Amino acid sequence: MDKVRILPASSKLAGDILCPPDKSFSHRAAMIGALSSGETLIHNFSFCQDTWSTLYCLKLFGVTIQTYPDQGVVQVTSFGKNGLSEPPDILDVGNSGTTLRLIAGITAGIQGLSILTGDQSIRQRPMKRIIDPLRKTGVVIGGRNGDRYAPLYVIGKNPLRAFHHTLEIPSAQVKSCLLFAALWGDGPSFIKEPILSRNHTENMLQAVGGDIRKQNEVIQVYPEKELVARPFHLPGDISSAAFLIAAALLIPKSHLVIRNIGLNPTRIGMVRCLQRMGAQINLFEVREEWGEQQGHLAIEHSLLNSFEINQDQIPSLIDEIPILSVLATQANGYSIIKGAGELRVKESDRLHAISENLNQLGAQVNETDDGLVISGPIRLKGGKVKSYHDHRIAMSMVIAGLIADAPVEIEDIECISISYPNFFQDLQKIGYKDFKIISDTLA
Ligand code: S3P
Repeated sequence: MDKVRILPASSKLAGDILCPPDKSFSHRAAMIGALSSGETLIHNFSFCQDTWSTLYCLKLFGVTIQTYPDQGVVQVTSFGKNGLSEPPDILDVGNSGTTLRLIAGITAGIQGLSILTGDQSIRQRPMKRIIDPLRKTGVVIGGRNGDRYAPLYVIGKNPLRAFHHTLEIPSAQVKSCLLFAALWGDGPSFIKEPILSRNHTENMLQAVGGDIRKQNEVIQVYPEKELVARPFHLPGDISSAAFLIAAALLIPKSHLVIRNIGLNPTRIGMVRCLQRMGAQINLFEVREEWGEQQGHLAIEHSLLNSFEINQDQIPSLIDEIPILSVLATQANGYSIIKGAGELRVKESDRLHAISENLNQLGAQVNETDDGLVISGPIRLKGGKVKSYHDHRIAMSMVIAGLIADAPVEIEDIECISISYPNFFQDLQKIGYKDFKIISDTLA
C-alpha cells in the first residue's frame, strides 16, 4: 500500500489551471448515451476508477464504447434504451456508489437478470433506499441481508409500472435511479423531492429530448419520447477543485484561478459557505449550457470565520464536508455541521474518519450523531493519519498536511485515483512540490 509524506508548504500557491472533469456528469453522460439512440460524443470525460466502472457495466448491456483517455473523450453508440440487453456477467461497480445505484435503475427496464456488486466498501453501503422504491415499478429486486446490501439481483421488465414516490433521503443517486426506471414506465411517474439535491440527471435527460418537468417539489417523467444522442462537453468538478480551493485559501499570499468549473447552484454549497466565512472567492464569466451553469473561480488566501450548516444545505456540499472540516480548524470560532448523518454511509464513515484524523493532528473536533463541531483556529501538528480507503478523506488530509507545522504521513493513498488521479500533478502545477510518495510496490 502506498503512503505519502506531506511537508508543510513553504511558499504561496499560484496559477491559472483547468479544473479536473466532473465525475458526476461523466457517469451520467455515459449512461444517458446508452439510453439514447445514436452516437454520443462526450468531451472532457473524467477518466477515474469510478467512471471506468460505469463504462464497464454499460458495455455488458451491449453498448459500444470507445475511449480516448489522452483526449478526454468517450464515444457511446447505442440503439437506445429498448436495445439494451441482459448482461452476460455480474455488474461489478468497484467502489462506485453512483454506478451501482444509477445502473440499478437501468437494469429495472432490461428484461432478464442483472446481478450488481462491488468492493468491500460498496457491499456495506445502504441499498434498501433504492430497492423499496424500485419495487413500486413491479420489478423483482432484492439484496443481501434483508435487502440492505449488495450484491443485488434485479429481474427487469419492459414496460414497468409508472409510480409515485417521495424521496425520504435527499439523495441524487436515489433520485437518478428512479428517473432512469421511470423512462420504461407505462405512464408518467412522479418523484417528489422535499430537499433539493443535484439535478444533473434531469438536465441531461432534457438535453437528449426527455420529457422531464418540474412543478414545485415534484419531478414528472413522461416516458413516451425517444432519447436522441447529442454531444456533451462536460464542465470541471467542483468536488475535486474543492481541495485546491482550500489549499489556496489556507496558504498565505496564494492566488489561484480555476477554469471551467460546473457551477450548478445545487452543487456549489461549499462556495457559498466559504463566501459567508469571509473567503475571497469569486465566480466569473458564468454561462449556461443544457441547463448547467459553468464558469471560472478566482481564489485568494483569506482569513476565515467559522460557519454553521444544516440539513437543507447538506446535499449542495455533501462531498465537500471533509475538506470544509479542515478549513474549519483554521477558522475563527466554532463551526457546526448538522444533519449530515449521510456522511456515515459514504465510502467510509466520514464523520468518524475526519474527527479521528484531525484530532490526531491536534485539532479540536467533536463528533455528534449527525455532524461535527470544530473549534478554530488551531495550529495543526504533524503525525500519521489514515485514508480509511476513502479518496476524499485522503485528499483532505493532504491539504491538512500543507498547513501543519511538521510532516504528515497519510497511509493507503491509492484510493485518490477513485476520483482524482492527477491530484498530485495538479498540486505541483500550482507550486506545491514538498511531498514524497512511498510506494510499497516500488520497495
Ligand atoms: C452523487 C450524489 C451524492 C454524492 C456522490 C455523487 C451523484 O450521493 O455524495 O458522491 O453523482 O449523484 P447521494 O446522492 O447518495 O448523497
